[in-house]
Amino acid sequence: MRKKVTKAIFPVAGLGTRFLPATKSVPKEIMTLVDRPLVQYAIDEARAAGIKEFIFVTSRGKGALEDYFDHSPVLEQELRKKGKNELLEVLKDTYMDSGAIAYIRQHRAMGLGHAVWCAHRLIANEPFAVVLPDDVIAAEKPCLQQMVEAYEETGGNMVAAMEVAPEQTSSYGVLDVAEDHGSVVSVKGMVEKPKASEAPSNLAVIGRYILGPSVLRNLRQMKSGAGGEIQLTDAIAQDIGSDVPVSGFRFQGERFDCGSKAGFLQATVSFALSRPDLRDDLMAHLNKVTQIDKAAE
Ligand code: UTP
Repeated sequence: MRKKVTKAIFPVAGLGTRFLPATKSVPKEIMTLVDRPLVQYAIDEARAAGIKEFIFVTSRGKGALEDYFDHSPVLEQELRKKGKNELLEVLKDTYMDSGAIAYIRQHRAMGLGHAVWCAHRLIANEPFAVVLPDDVIAAEKPCLQQMVEAYEETGGNMVAAMEVAPEQTSSYGVLDVAEDHGSVVSVKGMVEKPKASEAPSNLAVIGRYILGPSVLRNLRQMKSGAGGEIQLTDAIAQDIGSDVPVSGFRFQGERFDCGSKAGFLQATVSFALSRPDLRDDLMAHLNKVTQIDKAAE
């Protein structure tokens, strides 16, 4: 029987420079889509996939993120006194069971691979998920849950993948596909940020992974060797050709790159339009704005 995936690493130690000046004091993961911070979407998705242990790799200035998961007795008392039970209910999603959440510090932003490696002692010899909260995925069945189900068949290392336009391959790790089985593809290579003319496919890796302990061993070697950023994709690619299969998973759903301003705004509009309490007002506003835009053309 395959070991169940019950641990997830959330690397949140990046500098978030694309959102400066906001990220000077607010962690990117605490920025809100409508009224929920990015990290809440990530946690909800992980919980739905059966994750029980949540490991955050943090850095200086991420205190607000740690506070977010704490109980807030004064606020709760006040809400209870005022009979605001629906708000008390909303807060429940933010609580973690005692001992279920851990914070590890990445002392220097040495890349995503290094951030994942920082959590190795808490992972030990088990498969684990990696969830990047910047990538928010709207899906009927949460993306990580889809992956866990597929992983039960494949094992090995699995990366979430999506089709991108040729001019976008240079922003992603791109899969070199050995065999295409539809939602699961077996991978014979991974190329970091290729030009369209050099991309082996249009299947790009995005921020959801299920990985085995071999990736942590690969990262350990890289850690002692590399001078610059340590890439997670390199450590995964190192397993290709070994007895640990590497597969890509075409998930069902829409991914928003909330690490970029345009992606964050698109996600905000989409999530707000899916909310019955906001939809009509926002639609009216968008119609007004687009009409003004058209008139100006
Ligand atoms: P990004 O490439 O988006 O970098 O990291 P960033 O620092 O968050 O943002 P920009 O580019 O400066 O605006 C992708 C993910 O990897 C984590 C980030 O927190 C984010 O979740 N990361 C990156 C680390 O945890 N440590 C690192 O050293 C680098």
